[in-house]
Amino acid sequence: MALTDYIDDRPADGVFRVNPAIFTDQSVFDAEIKAIFEGGWVFLGLSSQAEQPHDYFTTQIGRFPVLVQRDGQGELGAFINACPHKGARLAQLRQGHAPLHVCPYHSWSFDSAGRNKAIKSKRAGCYSAAFDQDDHGLARLPHFGQYRDFLFGSLTADVPPLAEYLGGAVQLLDLVADQGEAGTELVPGQVTFTYAANWKLQLENCSDAYHFTSTHPSYIRVLERRQQTFSQDVVASVWENSDYWKDDATGIGGGSFSFANGHVLNWGVFGVTPASPLFEQAGPLAERHGEAKRDWMFNMRNLTIFPNLQIAENASSQLRIIRPLAPNLTEMRTWCLAPKGESAAARRQRIRQYEDFFNPTGMATPDDTVSYENCQMGYGGGMSRWLQGYARGMTASIAGGNRFGDLIGLGPERSVLADPQLCDETLYHSYYRAWANRIAQELQA
Ligand code: FES
Ligand SMILES: [Fe+2]
Repeated sequence: MALTDYIDDRPADGVFRVNPAIFTDQSVFDAEIKAIFEGGWVFLGLSSQAEQPHDYFTTQIGRFPVLVQRDGQGELGAFINACPHKGARLAQLRQGHAPLHVCPYHSWSFDSAGRNKAIKSKRAGCYSAAFDQDDHGLARLPHFGQYRDFLFGSLTADVPPLAEYLGGAVQLLDLVADQGEAGTELVPGQVTFTYAANWKLQLENCSDAYHFTSTHPSYIRVLERRQQTFSQDVVASVWENSDYWKDDATGIGGGSFSFANGHVLNWGVFGVTPASPLFEQAGPLAERHGEAKRDWMFNMRNLTIFPNLQIAENASSQLRIIRPLAPNLTEMRTWCLAPKGESAAARRQRIRQYEDFFNPTGMATPDDTVSYENCQMGYGGGMSRWLQGYARGMTASIAGGNRFGDLIGLGPERSVLADPQLCDETLYHSYYRAWANRIAQELQA
């Protein structure tokens, strides 16, 4: 099939449609793994996951296990987490501290800079000179990069510099990283779960405001009941007191921004409210970053850095890593994300709100993942009819930014600003344009 059989993208005709085969075809999935996950920058984790010398964490890029660790000098490095002897996975834990890794198969050992330190019974091994000339250390990733607290790696050497790949979306990462004077960390307690559907359904859902009231009525009812029971004033919205959010008679309270390479944000005005665990920092944040940037930190923001990082700051703050396992199987790793050094009370509030909404044990995530699985079931073997879920907002989408983004100097490729009920679907176009660019060659190969 040609790329145009998968994505029908004709802006001049007001058409953007998706063939459900992109969620079911094994050939598409294989192309995605090679060209997107193993063919460019992907998110690995936060630098705080390996804070001290010799700390490490493990993750995955496509089909490859990856080890990120700090050496004795505190320098971070990223390696294929596989022993050069017979290829066994080396570090077994998600996270740990190891000046020396000893392979569990035949005990070759490696220091925290990835250098081979010992080959068991080397002298008795009758190795050839050619073997001695080989590098027995761990293979480094061709590219490893850091922006603020965020670590990225690439298995492919032929990629643009990380800064170019992230582009203007770095300012959205700044809105996260700048919440704490000392940076950002993951709250202990990682959750891993799978759902029986395609990885791009998670990609889309994070940016899907349209589903919220339909998919999560039980969560909304619980919130309403709490408000009736606990009637104290919980919202001190900037909507009431800041000119820049309320100077429009149309009631605009959010929208979306799309950036090059498939990075997108959807957002809504939340207000500087005690309902946010950031509230205790409202004054200091305004002093450090100005009121507009502070208010942006309080806004509801769902950010995707294509292809595998999502940061959802709505009911609480969640960092997600998406890992495709099969066309109809996806692994999610999720954490509560928090500014370092926040008070115990703020951290408690953040975690309670986090438990409430997120994860398989929360009130929202199960609704979402069941919907992804319903979609996957609906696709059958990849039905022949185009999907129509990419059309909302078509006539509201404009090239460039808008006055709300201008407050913090955002320079997106496209933006949508509208009544909250618009629930833009055009920000998915950015995903699929990046997706199409990346897999085109692979599909034709
Ligand atoms: S595979 Fe690691 S020592 Fe043999
Ligand atoms: Fe949802």
